[in-house]
Amino acid sequence: MNLHSKLPDVGTTIFTRMSALAREHGAINLSQGFPDFPAPEGLRQALARHALEGHNQYAPMIGEAALREQVALQLQNFRGVAADPTEEITIVPGATEGLFCAIMALVGRDDEVILLDPSYDSYEPAVRLAGGRAVHVPLNNRDFSVDWERVTGALSPRSRMIVINSPHNPTGAVLSHSDLETLQALAEQHDLLVVSDEVYEHLVFDGARHHSVLQYPALRARSVAVYSFGKTYGVTGWKTGYCVAPAAITAELRKVHQFNCFVGVTPVQLALADFMAAEPAYPAALPAFYQAKRDLLQRALAPSRFRLRPSPGTYFQLLDYGAISDEPDHQLCERWTREHGVASIPISIFYQAPPQQHFLRLCFAKQDEQLLRAAEVLCRI
Ligand SMILES: Cc1ncc(COP(=O)(O)O)c(C=O)c1O
Repeated sequence: MNLHSKLPDVGTTIFTRMSALAREHGAINLSQGFPDFPAPEGLRQALARHALEGHNQYAPMIGEAALREQVALQLQNFRGVAADPTEEITIVPGATEGLFCAIMALVGRDDEVILLDPSYDSYEPAVRLAGGRAVHVPLNNRDFSVDWERVTGALSPRSRMIVINSPHNPTGAVLSHSDLETLQALAEQHDLLVVSDEVYEHLVFDGARHHSVLQYPALRARSVAVYSFGKTYGVTGWKTGYCVAPAAITAELRKVHQFNCFVGVTPVQLALADFMAAEPAYPAALPAFYQAKRDLLQRALAPSRFRLRPSPGTYFQLLDYGAISDEPDHQLCERWTREHGVASIPISIFYQAPPQQHFLRLCFAKQDEQLLRAAEVLCRI
């Protein structure tokens, strides 16, 4: 058989592997980004109700109207952004599918796409499957800010798109207003499309604000912003998200979506719509909730030999283990899962060319007692 792999160098994602290893060894799983506590009861009840009431057939291709309307309201309330629920908002089965559809729809053969490393692992395969070429530009090593001069230097006549992610997985870094202004100028000048992965939009701490591409008119006109209900409502297993983009871009994205997944899951969409209508302020409570978890973990790790990086957003905390070991991070993460019973994520896999550094990523979307147990173990290393 002549099997020609389109992604010969791609294996199973690190998240799947580390969660499987954690299960195998009964380790505390601070690796994959999902909560280990229940989602809001009203949301779960709404899903059961809709399934029992018989809402179990195909949803509209672009998503249930009730959910698109709630998304439009939330964008207005939280970001001051107007978006047309019919022309500009598309419900997708997870942000991953939204990102894939956006990249597939907008990137052509030999187009170049700027990715900022460390970058979430789904971007590059999508670019390659679309026939494009990923051009990796590292973030500043010191604070994981964007080196805009370096980005400008990486642009060529073939540059078509830049993918940004703020708040940023895996580093927790958050783009500033001035970053968005710089991006806006650059995108206009070089006619770039922007895919903005904003799945952690509500997880920004210490009184800071999330800046969305949707809030900058010239970016709004050339961007797809991608979101995940899984992250905001603590239901990653429901695999439901949405994309916001101008009508012309949305039309192209939907052409891919309808022949990729076609639709999202009906009762899930209806349950989310009910819950958002009943609890419109729910996301406003998330920063305090997750900041308390971040602070708990940071305090518990203070006596350890790790150096903690600032974590202004997301539910991830980076630990520098340079004072403990020189071992490559992927090896160390696997070994510590087996030997110490705490699973984490190595950072090098998010880079095309990993720098000389020693970082692990911990997810603090976990019950306090799990965070404290993990910290106790880590303090003994
Ligand atoms: C940066 C980033 N983008 C996208 C996703 C995928 O979100 P979803 O589960 O909705 O596909 C994740 C999930 O961890 C993520 O961290």
